[in-house]
Amino acid sequence: MDSARMLIVEDNADLCHTLAEVFRKSGHKVVTALNGAEAQRLLKTSAIDLVLLDLRLPDMLGIKVLEFAKEVDPEIMVIMMTAVANDPRPAVEAMKVGAFDYLTKPFELDEVKLVVAKALETAGLKREVSRLKQQQRGQFPETELFGDSAPMQEIKNLIKIVSDTPRTSVLIQGESGTGKELVAKTIHQWSARQDKPFVPINCGAIPENLLESELFGHEKGAFTDAKALKKGMFELADTGTVFLDEISSMRPALQPKLLRALETQIFRRIGGTADIQVDVRLVAATNRDLGEMVKLGEFREDLYYRLKVMVIVLPPLRERIEDVLPLAQLFIEKNNREFNKNITGIADDAEALLREYQWPGNVRELKNVIERGVILCQGNQLKPEHLPMELRDEKSRHAAVIAAPITATDDDASLSLEQMEKVHIQNVLNKFKGNKSRAAKALNISRSTLREKMRLYELAG
Ligand SMILES: Nc1ncnc2c1ncn2[C@@H]1O[C@H](COP(=O)(O)OP(=O)(O)OP(=O)(O)O)[C@@H](O)[C@H]1O
Ligand SMILES: [Mg+2]
Repeated sequence: MDSARMLIVEDNADLCHTLAEVFRKSGHKVVTALNGAEAQRLLKTSAIDLVLLDLRLPDMLGIKVLEFAKEVDPEIMVIMMTAVANDPRPAVEAMKVGAFDYLTKPFELDEVKLVVAKALETAGLKREVSRLKQQQRGQFPETELFGDSAPMQEIKNLIKIVSDTPRTSVLIQGESGTGKELVAKTIHQWSARQDKPFVPINCGAIPENLLESELFGHEKGAFTDAKALKKGMFELADTGTVFLDEISSMRPALQPKLLRALETQIFRRIGGTADIQVDVRLVAATNRDLGEMVKLGEFREDLYYRLKVMVIVLPPLRERIEDVLPLAQLFIEKNNREFNKNITGIADDAEALLREYQWPGNVRELKNVIERGVILCQGNQLKPEHLPMELRDEKSRHAAVIAAPITATDDDASLSLEQMEKVHIQNVLNKFKGNKSRAAKALNISRSTLREKMRLYELAG
Protein backbone atom coordinates (compact mmCIF):
# COMPACT_ATOMS: atom_id res chain seq x y z
CA MET A 1 0.00 0.00 0.00
CA ASP A 2 1.67 3.21 -1.13
CA SER A 3 -0.82 5.44 0.56
CA ALA A 4 -2.56 4.29 3.70
CA ARG A 5 -5.09 5.88 6.00
CA MET A 6 -3.37 6.13 9.36
CA LEU A 7 -4.54 7.01 12.82
CA ILE A 8 -1.99 8.13 15.40
CA VAL A 9 -3.10 7.93 19.02
CA GLU A 10 -0.64 9.57 21.38
CA ASP A 11 -1.28 11.93 24.29
CA ASN A 12 2.11 13.59 23.98
CA ALA A 13 1.08 16.32 21.54
CA ASP A 14 4.63 16.97 20.30
CA LEU A 15 5.32 13.35 19.49
CA CYS A 16 1.88 12.99 17.95
CA HIS A 17 2.53 15.98 15.69
CA THR A 18 6.01 14.80 14.69
CA LEU A 19 4.78 11.35 13.75
CA ALA A 20 1.88 12.77 11.77
CA GLU A 21 4.21 15.01 9.78
CA VAL A 22 6.61 12.18 9.05
CA PHE A 23 3.91 9.96 7.62
CA ARG A 24 2.11 12.73 5.77
CA LYS A 25 5.41 13.46 4.03
CA SER A 26 5.64 9.85 2.93
CA GLY A 27 2.24 10.20 1.27
CA HIS A 28 -0.09 8.74 3.85
CA LYS A 29 -3.35 10.23 4.98
CA VAL A 30 -3.05 10.84 8.69
CA VAL A 31 -5.54 11.65 11.42
CA THR A 32 -4.61 12.01 15.08
CA ALA A 33 -6.17 11.57 18.50
CA LEU A 34 -4.81 12.66 21.86
CA ASN A 35 -6.99 10.29 23.87
CA GLY A 36 -8.84 6.99 23.65
CA ALA A 37 -12.35 8.37 23.27
CA GLU A 38 -11.34 10.49 20.28
CA ALA A 39 -9.53 7.50 18.80
CA GLN A 40 -12.64 5.34 19.09
CA ARG A 41 -14.74 8.02 17.46
CA LEU A 42 -12.35 8.22 14.51
CA LEU A 43 -12.16 4.44 14.18
CA LYS A 44 -15.91 4.28 13.96
CA THR A 45 -16.35 7.08 11.45
CA SER A 46 -13.35 6.90 9.12
CA ALA A 47 -11.92 3.94 7.25
CA ILE A 48 -8.49 3.37 8.79
CA ASP A 49 -5.84 0.93 7.57
CA LEU A 50 -3.27 1.32 10.31
CA VAL A 51 -3.11 2.64 13.87
CA LEU A 52 -0.04 3.76 15.79
CA LEU A 53 -1.28 3.43 19.33
CA ASP A 54 0.20 4.55 22.63
CA LEU A 55 -0.23 1.94 25.31
CA ARG A 56 -0.98 4.44 28.04
CA LEU A 57 -3.59 7.10 27.34
CA PRO A 58 -5.08 9.67 29.71
CA ASP A 59 -8.61 8.27 29.63
CA MET A 60 -8.19 4.54 29.02
CA LEU A 61 -5.70 1.80 28.36
CA GLY A 62 -4.41 1.52 24.83
CA ILE A 63 -5.43 -2.13 24.89
CA LYS A 64 -9.08 -1.05 24.98
CA VAL A 65 -8.61 1.04 21.87
CA LEU A 66 -6.86 -1.91 20.26
CA GLU A 67 -9.78 -4.20 21.04
CA PHE A 68 -12.19 -1.61 19.75
CA ALA A 69 -10.23 -1.21 16.50
CA LYS A 70 -10.18 -4.97 15.90
CA GLU A 71 -13.88 -5.10 16.60
CA VAL A 72 -14.60 -2.45 13.98
CA ASP A 73 -12.24 -4.02 11.46
CA PRO A 74 -10.53 -7.34 12.18
CA GLU A 75 -8.04 -6.66 9.37
CA ILE A 76 -6.82 -3.36 10.76
CA MET A 77 -3.09 -3.12 11.48
CA VAL A 78 -2.21 -1.82 14.94
CA ILE A 79 1.28 -1.00 16.15
CA MET A 80 1.60 -0.33 19.86
CA MET A 81 3.99 2.23 21.34
CA THR A 82 5.11 1.71 24.89
CA ALA A 83 7.37 3.58 27.25
CA VAL A 84 7.69 0.80 29.79
CA ALA A 85 10.67 -1.10 28.45
CA ASN A 86 11.23 -3.03 31.64
CA ASP A 87 7.73 -4.46 31.79
CA PRO A 88 6.99 -6.39 28.61
CA ARG A 89 3.67 -7.73 29.85
CA PRO A 90 1.30 -5.11 28.37
CA ALA A 91 3.03 -5.39 25.01
CA VAL A 92 2.74 -9.16 25.05
CA GLU A 93 -0.91 -8.81 25.97
CA ALA A 94 -1.39 -6.44 23.04
CA MET A 95 0.14 -8.93 20.62
CA LYS A 96 -2.30 -11.53 21.87
CA VAL A 97 -5.25 -9.23 21.17
CA GLY A 98 -3.97 -8.84 17.62
CA ALA A 99 -1.46 -5.99 17.53
CA PHE A 100 0.94 -6.38 14.61
CA ASP A 101 4.05 -5.25 16.48
CA TYR A 102 5.20 -2.87 19.19
CA LEU A 103 7.79 -0.16 19.56
CA THR A 104 9.54 0.78 22.76
CA LYS A 105 9.98 4.48 23.45
CA PRO A 106 12.16 6.30 22.80
CA PHE A 107 12.48 5.14 19.23
CA GLU A 108 14.16 6.42 16.09
CA LEU A 109 11.83 7.71 13.39
CA ASP A 110 13.42 5.32 10.91
CA GLU A 111 12.45 2.46 13.16
CA VAL A 112 8.77 3.52 13.17
CA LYS A 113 8.81 3.98 9.43
CA LEU A 114 10.19 0.50 8.95
CA VAL A 115 7.60 -1.18 11.18
CA VAL A 116 4.79 0.75 9.49
CA ALA A 117 6.05 -0.23 6.04
CA LYS A 118 6.21 -3.86 7.11
CA ALA A 119 2.67 -3.75 8.51
CA LEU A 120 1.30 -2.17 5.35
CA GLU A 121 3.02 -4.74 3.18
CA THR A 122 1.53 -7.54 5.27
CA ALA A 123 -1.91 -5.93 5.08
CA GLY A 124 -1.63 -5.65 1.31
CA LEU A 125 -0.66 -9.30 0.96
CA LYS A 126 -3.45 -10.43 3.26
CA ARG A 127 -5.98 -8.49 1.27
CA GLU A 128 -4.72 -10.00 -1.97
CA VAL A 129 -4.93 -13.51 -0.56
CA SER A 130 -8.44 -13.04 0.75
CA ARG A 131 -9.52 -11.51 -2.54
CA LEU A 132 -8.18 -14.50 -4.43
CA LYS A 133 -9.74 -16.91 -1.98
CA GLN A 134 -13.05 -15.16 -2.26
CA GLN A 135 -12.86 -15.22 -6.02
CA GLN A 136 -12.17 -18.90 -5.93
CA ARG A 137 -14.99 -19.52 -3.51
CA GLY A 138 -17.26 -17.51 -5.75
CA GLN A 139 -16.26 -19.53 -8.76
CA PHE A 140 -16.61 -22.95 -7.20
CA PRO A 141 -19.14 -23.32 -4.40
CA GLU A 142 -17.70 -25.88 -2.05
CA THR A 143 -21.13 -27.28 -1.31
CA GLU A 144 -23.85 -28.19 -3.67
CA LEU A 145 -27.35 -27.03 -2.89
CA PHE A 146 -28.78 -29.99 -1.06
CA GLY A 147 -32.27 -31.07 -0.01
CA ASP A 148 -35.23 -32.69 -1.73
CA SER A 149 -38.13 -31.34 0.30
CA ALA A 150 -40.93 -29.90 -1.79
CA PRO A 151 -39.85 -26.30 -1.14
CA MET A 152 -36.24 -27.09 -2.10
CA GLN A 153 -37.32 -28.80 -5.30
CA GLU A 154 -39.34 -25.75 -6.14
CA ILE A 155 -36.34 -23.53 -5.45
CA LYS A 156 -34.07 -25.62 -7.65
CA ASN A 157 -36.63 -25.35 -10.43
CA LEU A 158 -36.72 -21.60 -10.06
CA ILE A 159 -32.93 -21.45 -10.13
CA LYS A 160 -32.90 -23.44 -13.38
CA ILE A 161 -35.39 -21.08 -14.94
CA VAL A 162 -33.57 -17.88 -13.95
CA SER A 163 -30.18 -19.32 -14.81
CA ASP A 164 -31.41 -19.66 -18.36
CA THR A 165 -32.36 -16.01 -18.64
CA PRO A 166 -29.42 -13.87 -19.67
CA ARG A 167 -29.73 -10.89 -17.40
CA THR A 168 -32.80 -11.00 -15.17
CA SER A 169 -32.09 -9.67 -11.68
CA VAL A 170 -32.90 -12.01 -8.83
CA LEU A 171 -33.82 -11.22 -5.25
CA ILE A 172 -33.20 -13.94 -2.67
CA GLN A 173 -35.10 -13.56 0.56
CA GLY A 174 -34.68 -15.65 3.68
CA GLU A 175 -33.66 -15.76 7.31
CA SER A 176 -30.04 -15.87 8.27
CA GLY A 177 -28.33 -19.15 7.45
CA THR A 178 -30.99 -20.44 5.04
CA GLY A 179 -28.52 -20.62 2.16
CA LYS A 180 -29.00 -17.33 0.30
CA GLU A 181 -25.37 -17.04 -0.70
CA LEU A 182 -25.25 -20.64 -1.82
CA VAL A 183 -28.31 -20.07 -4.00
CA ALA A 184 -26.68 -16.98 -5.51
CA LYS A 185 -23.59 -19.00 -6.41
CA THR A 186 -25.73 -21.78 -7.81
CA ILE A 187 -27.56 -19.35 -10.10
CA HIS A 188 -24.22 -18.20 -11.42
CA GLN A 189 -22.93 -21.73 -11.84
CA TRP A 190 -25.94 -23.03 -13.67
CA SER A 191 -25.97 -20.05 -16.01
CA ALA A 192 -24.06 -19.41 -19.21
CA ARG A 193 -21.93 -17.02 -17.16
CA GLN A 194 -20.39 -19.82 -15.13
CA ASP A 195 -16.85 -19.27 -16.41
CA LYS A 196 -17.13 -15.53 -15.92
CA PRO A 197 -16.53 -13.62 -12.68
CA PHE A 198 -18.85 -13.92 -9.69
CA VAL A 199 -18.29 -10.81 -7.62
CA PRO A 200 -19.82 -10.70 -4.15
CA ILE A 201 -20.24 -7.46 -2.19
CA ASN A 202 -21.73 -7.25 1.26
CA CYS A 203 -23.52 -3.91 1.45
CA GLY A 204 -23.80 -4.19 5.22
CA ALA A 205 -20.08 -4.65 5.71
CA ILE A 206 -18.85 -1.71 3.64
CA PRO A 207 -19.05 1.80 5.12
CA GLU A 208 -21.91 3.68 3.47
CA ASN A 209 -19.71 6.33 1.93
CA LEU A 210 -17.44 3.75 0.28
CA LEU A 211 -20.12 1.56 -1.23
CA GLU A 212 -20.71 3.70 -4.28
CA SER A 213 -17.07 3.64 -5.32
CA GLU A 214 -16.92 -0.04 -4.49
CA LEU A 215 -19.78 -0.64 -6.94
CA PHE A 216 -18.98 1.80 -9.71
CA GLY A 217 -15.35 2.76 -9.15
CA HIS A 218 -13.84 6.23 -9.26
CA GLU A 219 -11.49 8.31 -11.34
CA LYS A 220 -8.20 9.52 -9.96
CA GLY A 221 -8.86 12.69 -8.00
CA ALA A 222 -12.65 12.22 -7.83
CA PHE A 223 -12.44 12.90 -4.09
CA THR A 224 -9.70 13.47 -1.56
CA ASP A 225 -8.96 9.78 -1.07
CA ALA A 226 -9.07 8.90 -4.74
CA LYS A 227 -5.33 8.78 -5.32
CA ALA A 228 -5.65 6.46 -8.28
CA LEU A 229 -8.28 5.23 -10.67
CA LYS A 230 -10.26 2.36 -9.27
CA LYS A 231 -12.54 0.02 -11.15
CA GLY A 232 -15.78 -0.88 -9.39
CA MET A 233 -17.38 -4.28 -8.98
CA PHE A 234 -19.77 -3.71 -11.87
CA GLU A 235 -16.81 -3.24 -14.17
CA LEU A 236 -14.88 -6.16 -12.73
CA ALA A 237 -17.92 -8.42 -13.02
CA ASP A 238 -18.49 -7.59 -16.69
CA THR A 239 -20.05 -10.60 -18.47
CA GLY A 240 -20.49 -12.25 -15.06
CA THR A 241 -22.64 -11.88 -11.94
CA VAL A 242 -22.63 -9.31 -9.14
CA PHE A 243 -23.92 -10.59 -5.82
CA LEU A 244 -25.17 -7.82 -3.55
CA ASP A 245 -25.57 -9.29 -0.10
CA GLU A 246 -27.70 -7.49 2.50
CA ILE A 247 -29.06 -5.11 -0.07
CA SER A 248 -31.39 -3.72 2.61
CA SER A 249 -28.37 -1.89 4.05
CA MET A 250 -27.88 0.19 0.93
CA ARG A 251 -28.70 3.80 1.69
CA PRO A 252 -31.65 5.13 -0.33
CA ALA A 253 -29.54 7.82 -2.00
CA LEU A 254 -27.49 5.19 -3.80
CA GLN A 255 -30.43 3.06 -4.87
CA PRO A 256 -31.46 5.08 -7.96
CA LYS A 257 -27.91 4.79 -9.29
CA LEU A 258 -28.03 1.04 -8.92
CA LEU A 259 -31.42 0.95 -10.60
CA ARG A 260 -30.17 2.98 -13.53
CA ALA A 261 -27.12 0.77 -13.93
CA LEU A 262 -29.34 -2.30 -13.91
CA GLU A 263 -31.76 -0.94 -16.44
CA THR A 264 -29.30 0.52 -18.90
CA GLN A 265 -26.22 -1.58 -18.10
CA ILE A 266 -24.41 1.73 -18.36
CA PHE A 267 -22.81 3.74 -15.56
CA ARG A 268 -20.04 6.19 -14.85
CA ARG A 269 -17.25 5.98 -12.36
CA ILE A 270 -17.45 8.57 -9.60
CA GLY A 271 -15.92 11.75 -11.02
CA GLY A 272 -15.96 10.25 -14.50
CA THR A 273 -17.58 11.58 -17.66
CA ALA A 274 -17.36 8.48 -19.84
CA ASP A 275 -20.24 6.00 -20.02
CA ILE A 276 -19.16 2.47 -19.29
CA GLN A 277 -21.17 -0.29 -20.87
CA VAL A 278 -21.28 -3.69 -19.20
CA ASP A 279 -23.21 -6.92 -19.27
CA VAL A 280 -23.91 -7.93 -15.70
CA ARG A 281 -26.51 -9.98 -13.90
CA LEU A 282 -27.44 -8.83 -10.42
CA VAL A 283 -28.34 -11.27 -7.69
CA ALA A 284 -29.30 -9.60 -4.42
CA ALA A 285 -30.01 -11.08 -1.01
CA THR A 286 -31.75 -9.83 2.08
CA ASN A 287 -32.98 -11.20 5.37
CA ARG A 288 -35.29 -8.26 5.84
CA ASP A 289 -38.64 -7.88 4.15
CA LEU A 290 -37.98 -5.24 1.49
CA GLY A 291 -41.72 -4.79 0.94
CA GLU A 292 -42.08 -3.72 4.56
CA MET A 293 -39.08 -1.43 4.21
CA VAL A 294 -40.69 0.21 1.19
CA LYS A 295 -43.79 0.90 3.29
CA LEU A 296 -41.61 2.44 5.98
CA GLY A 297 -39.85 4.58 3.38
CA GLU A 298 -36.52 2.87 4.04
CA PHE A 299 -36.16 1.28 0.63
CA ARG A 300 -36.97 2.76 -2.77
CA GLU A 301 -40.08 1.43 -4.38
CA ASP A 302 -38.78 1.61 -7.96
CA LEU A 303 -35.71 -0.50 -7.16
CA TYR A 304 -37.86 -2.91 -5.18
CA TYR A 305 -40.16 -3.44 -8.15
CA ARG A 306 -37.20 -4.01 -10.39
CA LEU A 307 -35.80 -6.67 -8.04
CA LYS A 308 -39.17 -8.20 -7.35
CA VAL A 309 -39.52 -9.48 -10.90
CA MET A 310 -37.79 -12.65 -9.80
CA VAL A 311 -37.87 -13.49 -6.10
CA ILE A 312 -36.64 -16.68 -4.52
CA VAL A 313 -37.86 -17.10 -0.97
CA LEU A 314 -35.84 -19.54 1.09
CA PRO A 315 -38.06 -20.99 3.81
CA PRO A 316 -36.55 -21.41 7.27
CA LEU A 317 -35.27 -24.89 8.02
CA ARG A 318 -38.07 -25.50 10.56
CA GLU A 319 -40.52 -25.27 7.66
CA ARG A 320 -38.76 -28.00 5.71
CA ILE A 321 -37.97 -30.49 8.43
CA GLU A 322 -37.66 -33.25 5.80
CA ASP A 323 -34.34 -31.67 4.82
CA VAL A 324 -32.84 -31.84 8.31
CA LEU A 325 -31.69 -35.47 8.34
CA PRO A 326 -30.36 -35.61 4.77
CA LEU A 327 -28.46 -32.37 5.41
CA ALA A 328 -27.17 -33.76 8.72
CA GLN A 329 -25.99 -36.85 6.84
CA LEU A 330 -24.26 -34.70 4.24
CA PHE A 331 -22.47 -32.68 6.92
CA ILE A 332 -21.46 -35.87 8.76
CA GLU A 333 -19.82 -37.20 5.61
CA LYS A 334 -17.98 -33.93 5.02
CA ASN A 335 -16.76 -33.82 8.60
CA ASN A 336 -15.80 -37.49 8.58
CA ARG A 337 -13.39 -36.65 5.82
CA GLU A 338 -12.14 -33.50 7.48
CA PHE A 339 -11.61 -34.97 10.95
CA ASN A 340 -10.73 -38.44 9.83
CA LYS A 341 -13.68 -40.08 11.58
CA ASN A 342 -16.02 -42.82 10.59
CA ILE A 343 -19.47 -41.95 11.86
CA THR A 344 -21.96 -44.08 10.04
CA GLY A 345 -25.27 -43.01 11.47
CA ILE A 346 -27.43 -41.09 13.91
CA ALA A 347 -29.14 -42.77 16.86
CA ASP A 348 -32.95 -42.66 16.81
CA ASP A 349 -33.25 -40.42 19.87
CA ALA A 350 -30.66 -38.01 18.44
CA GLU A 351 -32.56 -37.96 15.15
CA ALA A 352 -35.71 -37.05 17.03
CA LEU A 353 -33.93 -34.13 18.71
CA LEU A 354 -32.65 -32.85 15.38
CA ARG A 355 -36.12 -33.00 13.90
CA GLU A 356 -37.86 -31.35 16.83
CA TYR A 357 -35.53 -28.41 17.21
CA GLN A 358 -36.61 -25.06 15.79
CA TRP A 359 -33.25 -24.17 14.14
CA PRO A 360 -33.31 -20.38 14.56
CA GLY A 361 -29.90 -20.27 12.83
CA ASN A 362 -31.18 -22.53 10.03
CA VAL A 363 -28.80 -24.59 7.89
CA ARG A 364 -25.74 -22.78 9.19
CA GLU A 365 -26.67 -23.75 12.74
CA LEU A 366 -27.28 -27.37 11.71
CA LYS A 367 -23.93 -27.45 9.98
CA ASN A 368 -22.18 -26.19 13.12
CA VAL A 369 -24.10 -28.53 15.40
CA ILE A 370 -23.06 -31.51 13.28
CA GLU A 371 -19.46 -30.41 13.10
CA ARG A 372 -19.37 -30.15 16.87
CA GLY A 373 -21.07 -33.52 17.21
CA VAL A 374 -18.60 -35.23 14.91
CA ILE A 375 -15.71 -33.81 16.90
CA LEU A 376 -17.18 -34.99 20.20
CA CYS A 377 -18.29 -38.42 19.00
CA GLN A 378 -15.80 -41.19 19.72
CA GLY A 379 -17.86 -44.10 18.38
CA ASN A 380 -19.56 -44.45 15.04
CA GLN A 381 -23.01 -43.25 15.94
CA LEU A 382 -24.07 -39.71 16.75
CA LYS A 383 -25.96 -39.70 20.05
CA PRO A 384 -27.92 -37.10 22.03
CA GLU A 385 -24.93 -36.41 24.29
CA HIS A 386 -23.01 -35.17 21.25
CA LEU A 387 -25.64 -32.53 20.59
CA PRO A 388 -25.63 -29.13 22.26
CA MET A 389 -27.68 -28.38 25.35
CA GLU A 390 -30.27 -26.28 23.57
CA LEU A 391 -31.37 -29.26 21.46
CA ARG A 392 -31.47 -31.68 24.32
CA ASP A 393 -33.21 -29.45 26.77
CA GLU A 394 -35.73 -27.17 25.14
CA LYS A 395 -37.38 -26.61 28.49
CA SER A 396 -34.37 -25.44 30.44
CA ARG A 397 -33.38 -23.22 27.55
CA HIS A 398 -36.80 -21.71 27.56
CA ALA A 399 -36.66 -21.17 31.32
CA ALA A 400 -33.29 -19.47 31.05
CA VAL A 401 -34.61 -17.07 28.47
CA ILE A 402 -37.67 -16.26 30.51
CA ALA A 403 -35.59 -15.60 33.60
CA ALA A 404 -33.45 -13.13 31.70
CA PRO A 405 -33.59 -9.54 32.87
CA ILE A 406 -35.03 -8.03 29.71
CA THR A 407 -37.83 -10.53 29.17
CA ALA A 408 -40.87 -8.66 27.96
CA THR A 409 -43.39 -10.63 29.96
CA ASP A 410 -43.37 -13.59 32.28
CA ASP A 411 -46.22 -15.13 30.38
CA ASP A 412 -43.73 -17.16 28.38
CA ALA A 413 -46.23 -18.72 26.02
CA SER A 414 -47.07 -15.29 24.70
CA LEU A 415 -43.54 -14.62 23.45
CA SER A 416 -43.38 -14.69 19.68
CA LEU A 417 -40.40 -16.31 17.98
CA GLU A 418 -39.16 -12.86 17.12
CA GLN A 419 -39.34 -11.75 20.73
CA MET A 420 -37.50 -14.87 21.76
CA GLU A 421 -34.83 -14.12 19.23
CA LYS A 422 -34.54 -10.57 20.44
CA VAL A 423 -34.28 -11.63 24.07
CA HIS A 424 -31.77 -14.31 23.23
CA ILE A 425 -29.55 -11.98 21.23
CA GLN A 426 -29.61 -9.41 24.02
CA ASN A 427 -28.65 -12.08 26.55
CA VAL A 428 -25.76 -13.29 24.45
CA LEU A 429 -24.61 -9.70 23.93
CA ASN A 430 -24.79 -9.14 27.66
CA LYS A 431 -22.82 -12.28 28.28
CA PHE A 432 -20.00 -11.09 26.05
CA LYS A 433 -20.24 -7.53 27.34
CA GLY A 434 -21.34 -6.23 23.96
CA ASN A 435 -18.46 -7.82 22.02
CA LYS A 436 -20.14 -8.37 18.67
CA SER A 437 -17.56 -10.74 17.22
CA ARG A 438 -17.87 -13.14 20.12
CA ALA A 439 -21.64 -12.79 20.31
CA ALA A 440 -21.99 -13.47 16.58
CA LYS A 441 -19.80 -16.53 16.95
CA ALA A 442 -21.87 -17.87 19.82
CA LEU A 443 -25.06 -17.23 17.86
CA ASN A 444 -23.68 -18.92 14.75
CA ILE A 445 -24.40 -15.91 12.59
CA SER A 446 -22.18 -13.48 10.75
CA ARG A 447 -21.25 -10.18 12.36
CA SER A 448 -23.15 -8.30 9.71
CA THR A 449 -26.25 -10.37 10.34
CA LEU A 450 -25.90 -9.63 14.03
CA ARG A 451 -25.61 -5.92 13.33
CA GLU A 452 -28.65 -6.14 11.08
CA LYS A 453 -30.66 -7.85 13.80
CA MET A 454 -29.49 -5.40 16.44
CA ARG A 455 -30.71 -2.59 14.24
CA LEU A 456 -33.98 -4.39 13.55
CA TYR A 457 -34.65 -5.03 17.23
CA GLU A 458 -33.12 -1.78 18.36
CA LEU A 459 -30.72 -3.57 20.67
CA ALA A 460 -27.78 -1.87 22.30
CA GLY A 461 -24.36 -3.52 21.98
N1 LIG B 1 -29.39 -26.44 0.90
C1 LIG B 1 -28.12 -26.46 1.40
N2 LIG B 1 -27.31 -27.51 1.13
C2 LIG B 1 -26.05 -27.55 1.60
N3 LIG B 1 -25.52 -26.59 2.37
C3 LIG B 1 -26.27 -25.52 2.67
C4 LIG B 1 -27.62 -25.40 2.20
N4 LIG B 1 -28.13 -24.26 2.65
C5 LIG B 1 -27.14 -23.66 3.37
N5 LIG B 1 -26.03 -24.41 3.38
C6 LIG B 1 -24.78 -24.10 4.09
O1 LIG B 1 -25.13 -23.38 5.26
C7 LIG B 1 -24.25 -22.27 5.46
C8 LIG B 1 -25.04 -20.98 5.45
O2 LIG B 1 -25.49 -20.72 4.15
P1 LIG B 1 -25.39 -19.26 3.49
O3 LIG B 1 -24.14 -18.57 3.89
O4 LIG B 1 -25.66 -19.39 2.05
O5 LIG B 1 -26.62 -18.58 4.25
P2 LIG B 1 -27.17 -17.08 4.17
O6 LIG B 1 -28.65 -17.20 3.95
O7 LIG B 1 -26.39 -16.31 3.16
O8 LIG B 1 -26.90 -16.56 5.64
P3 LIG B 1 -26.73 -15.03 6.19
O9 LIG B 1 -28.05 -14.35 6.05
O10 LIG B 1 -26.36 -15.22 7.62
O11 LIG B 1 -25.65 -14.43 5.37
C9 LIG B 1 -23.21 -22.35 4.37
O12 LIG B 1 -22.10 -23.04 4.87
C10 LIG B 1 -23.90 -23.15 3.27
O13 LIG B 1 -22.95 -23.85 2.50
MG1 LIG C 1 -25.15 -14.67 3.48
